[in-house]
Amino acid sequence: MSVGQVGRDWNELGESDPLWAVLTEPGKKNNQWSAAELFATGCAQVAEDIAWADGLGITIRGGRALDFGCGVGRLTNALAGHFDEVVGVDIAESMLAHARRLDRSGGRIRYIHNTADDLRFLEDGGFDLVYTDRVIQHLPPKSGRAYLRELMRVTRPGGALIVGVPDGATSYVRAALAALAPNPLLRSFQRRVLRFPAPMRMHAIGRAEFADVMTRAGGTLCATRPYGADPWWRHVRHLVVKEPRHAGEALVWARPDGRSGAVAGPAADPAADPAADPAADPAGAPSA
Ligand SMILES: C[S@@+](CC[C@H](N)C(=O)[O-])C[C@H]1O[C@@H](n2cnc3c(N)ncnc32)[C@H](O)[C@@H]1O
Repeated sequence: MSVGQVGRDWNELGESDPLWAVLTEPGKKNNQWSAAELFATGCAQVAEDIAWADGLGITIRGGRALDFGCGVGRLTNALAGHFDEVVGVDIAESMLAHARRLDRSGGRIRYIHNTADDLRFLEDGGFDLVYTDRVIQHLPPKSGRAYLRELMRVTRPGGALIVGVPDGATSYVRAALAALAPNPLLRSFQRRVLRFPAPMRMHAIGRAEFADVMTRAGGTLCATRPYGADPWWRHVRHLVVKEPRHAGEALVWARPDGRSGAVAGPAADPAADPAADPAADPAGAPSA
């Protein structure tokens, strides 16, 4: 399936049941969310993630944030409560129409429609925080990984990314069904049996592969935590830090197991700063 098809599907979802499509909670189908109720979930989520990062010694507030796949602005408005400026990007114009209507930020949010399979309209290193939740999973796997690299590119060195994406299905049978079901069959099942206004295909990314994509793009996966209860998918959010700008500047964070994680900055001289040598600290490996 192409990114173009994903965009058409999401545009249809945004036209018929936008608030349910961004957060598919039981009982909220057929426009049963109120905007206030939906946005309250975004505020709680962003506050939890900021506190999570704080607990790891990583401060993420102030400056510029990007909300990739912003939908109706559930998380964009929440981020605007912690950042000076927030850019929300979405592939579906119908979603953005609702996001603009529901903007509560007093002018601190800029919404951008993008149907391209990259983010070339955004400069390198322009964001202190890049946030994306419930988006990468809907993209064809190759495109999802390409967008992840783009998200790293637009993060400033030393800045953070929070990425919400399932790291697997809840059982082998479910994983096999999700991976092997032919697209036309799945699309028809979701429309006709589940009564979705348009299909939503799901793809998980295992934690090891996610860490690998991030490392190759120049980031360090500092922590991962599960959230939500879904009978099909194990949802997690990853906290990633883009490697520091200055030679010798080490990234140090508090691991959930009480030890500290550390990676050296680019071209650091481990002999000059033993604390910056990951080989000297087995705790430097990314942890759950
Ligand atoms: C499940 S909704 C999540 C919205 C929002 N992140 C939230 O959690 O409230 C997925 C959103 O991602 C958008 N999306 C899907 N593919 C995209 C892409 N390639 N670029 C930008 N947005 C995309 C969809 O239009 C939709 O608004």
